[in-house]
Amino acid sequence: MNAHLKMDKPDDRNRLDDMAQGLLGTAMDRPEGPLKVTGTATYAHEAHQPGMLHGVLVRATIARGTLDGVEAAAVEKMPGVRKVMWGDKFLRNPAQGTANKAPVQGSSEIYYIGQPVALVVADSFEAARHGAQSLELRMTAGTAVPDAKADGVAVERPEKKQSSMGDLKAAMQDAAFTVDQRYTTPGHNSAPMEPHSAIAWWDGDQLTLHASNQMLKYNVNEVADSLGIDPENVHLLAPYVGGGFGSKLGISPDAVAAALAAKELGVPVSVMLTRQQVFENVMRRSETAQDFQLAADKDGVLRGIGHTARVSQLPDESFAEPVTQATPFLYKGENRETHMEIVRVNQTCAGSVRAPGEAVGLTALEIAMDELAVATGIDPVELRKRNIPDRSPGEDKPFSSHKLAEALDDGAAIFGWADRKKGATDGEWLIGYGMSSAARVNMIGESHARVTLNPDGTLLIETDMTDIGTGTYAILTQIAGEMLGVPQDRIETRLGDSKLPKSAGSGGSWGASSAGSSVYMACEKLRQTIAAKLNCDEGDLTLKDGTATFANKQTPLTDLVGDAPMVVEGAIEPGKTQKDFRQATFGSFFCEVGVNSVTGEVRLRRMHGSFAAGRILNAKTARSQCLGGMTFGIGMALTEELIQDTRDGHLVNHDLAEYHIPVNADVPQLSVNFIAERDPYANPMQAKGIGELGICGAGAAIINAIYDATGVRVRDLPATMDKIL
Ligand code: MOS
Repeated sequence: MNAHLKMDKPDDRNRLDDMAQGLLGTAMDRPEGPLKVTGTATYAHEAHQPGMLHGVLVRATIARGTLDGVEAAAVEKMPGVRKVMWGDKFLRNPAQGTANKAPVQGSSEIYYIGQPVALVVADSFEAARHGAQSLELRMTAGTAVPDAKADGVAVERPEKKQSSMGDLKAAMQDAAFTVDQRYTTPGHNSAPMEPHSAIAWWDGDQLTLHASNQMLKYNVNEVADSLGIDPENVHLLAPYVGGGFGSKLGISPDAVAAALAAKELGVPVSVMLTRQQVFENVMRRSETAQDFQLAADKDGVLRGIGHTARVSQLPDESFAEPVTQATPFLYKGENRETHMEIVRVNQTCAGSVRAPGEAVGLTALEIAMDELAVATGIDPVELRKRNIPDRSPGEDKPFSSHKLAEALDDGAAIFGWADRKKGATDGEWLIGYGMSSAARVNMIGESHARVTLNPDGTLLIETDMTDIGTGTYAILTQIAGEMLGVPQDRIETRLGDSKLPKSAGSGGSWGASSAGSSVYMACEKLRQTIAAKLNCDEGDLTLKDGTATFANKQTPLTDLVGDAPMVVEGAIEPGKTQKDFRQATFGSFFCEVGVNSVTGEVRLRRMHGSFAAGRILNAKTARSQCLGGMTFGIGMALTEELIQDTRDGHLVNHDLAEYHIPVNADVPQLSVNFIAERDPYANPMQAKGIGELGICGAGAAIINAIYDATGVRVRDLPATMDKIL
């Protein structure tokens, strides 16, 4: 049995509102929580295999050139060292994506400092690391471009990433108020708690990899491509993932290195990246330079928006962070220019990091909007409300659902925006208030899941979907429990195994709604099957606590299943509703900062976010996602910054001591509220993505509050003390 839905039309039945279990939407605890807090959940590096060896990668120390040889013999004589691997036989092909030509790892062509070019395998991690540090490389340096901002760096303007509408130049000339400014954001590292690691072993031509990945169905193909083997022969396991934030969307160098070494040596091999290697050779967020032009009439209504964003990338890599993604739909304006520019540099590959696009694009736009609020003298909340369009203006599409106005009002009320005091102080601290809008595109991807109702009344949910700390185990359990009236302790959810039905994986905020919809579809089919057995309409059936009720007659599910389990596969894929409508989530941020009048130090004192993301599937995990996003916003505004040495392109701050993510003392009490919303165009659950919304624009609220406190407008993030004094 299976049930497949293509979203070609809205589903406004709101079925989940009528279910009896009362499980979906609650703050259900993660079922895997006890395993995680007792240290028994098996993360990638913990699935040790008998006879396993350890590999440590060796980094290139020039930004461009070739690796001509290595002094392998000396290292292979070191105690415990088994093998030094290098050259074109080793580490084939790119580490992410399929369209990319540049080898971001391995081979003898060197593209950036930190690129893995060799592997030392030894009996212990320590011996391998010692060997790796001792290995001498023979390299020939080529001509590198280490600095994206250097004069004369060639700028690409891909035709597909340019769009023009109306006449922005004329709109700027005619405007009552304008903003015309450049904003810059530095590179960021995803910095997941769990470093990237893989354990590989072979059984004949069958490869098993225990790794840490976000999207197994793609990752299997990447591994197969890199090794030149059939994807059917790759079995990928990632049951627990200690954070990804985009850095595990694709495979990382450890996976291919471990697989090749395990093949060569005939035993299981583990390769784990050190924290420094995570920074140096797992993709970074590109730095951005963003030029905004805002043209507003005398009432502050936008007549034009210009947004040109420049990012950097390795030569030949196809990815460019979609910095202008939300600009076409967030605010009014009939005259519009959006442009993307790419410069090629010899630095770590740029990729998706924590809400690629809006995280930095909306942050710059929301600082520019604050500048417009100051210029017009209109309250920043009111200014944004005046600029909410009826249809997406840059693409002429209707919105599927749109609750920005509600989120702005709700956030303002909860925060007490109207009661803020201009020019308040607290001792030597200058107090300021700021706000910004949140927005993120909503997407789904094709997803399949299998749901089995067993003769004993227990339920099994299976999909290759991952839980990267986001709450997937809980959410899928809740959806099935709600649909089928099975208590949560009788449901098992199995994830993170590439042999299970293929999902869209975790990324782009689409995970819960995509994988969740496939579970929903399977459960709906199971409900229909149960209804048919009771000769009733599925809609008249109540399933609760393992019992089916129809016309006051109660039948235990165990009586209906029979001897063989009921097995259903459900699937969802995007359709016309995703194409014809602008689907997005919206929200608002409000915050209070204190800026020290002597040192320029900024302390965030409180922050609130109100968010509209369709149906909320789990109140606790959704809130946690938003708290995490807001914390990233604090980092983006105040502390996080990858620093590349412009002389040779090496990464200066490559660990958590030098790259400053917010710590507890930087994060005050944050509050989150959700706006009631259903989006029938999104999927049958009417839920939208929540994973990344909390970061999109969050940093701008803090930057705007600093301006309110001090009159200093920081346009180059992060707002470190030197920029404020
Ligand atoms: Mo995300 S940065 O698309 O995992």
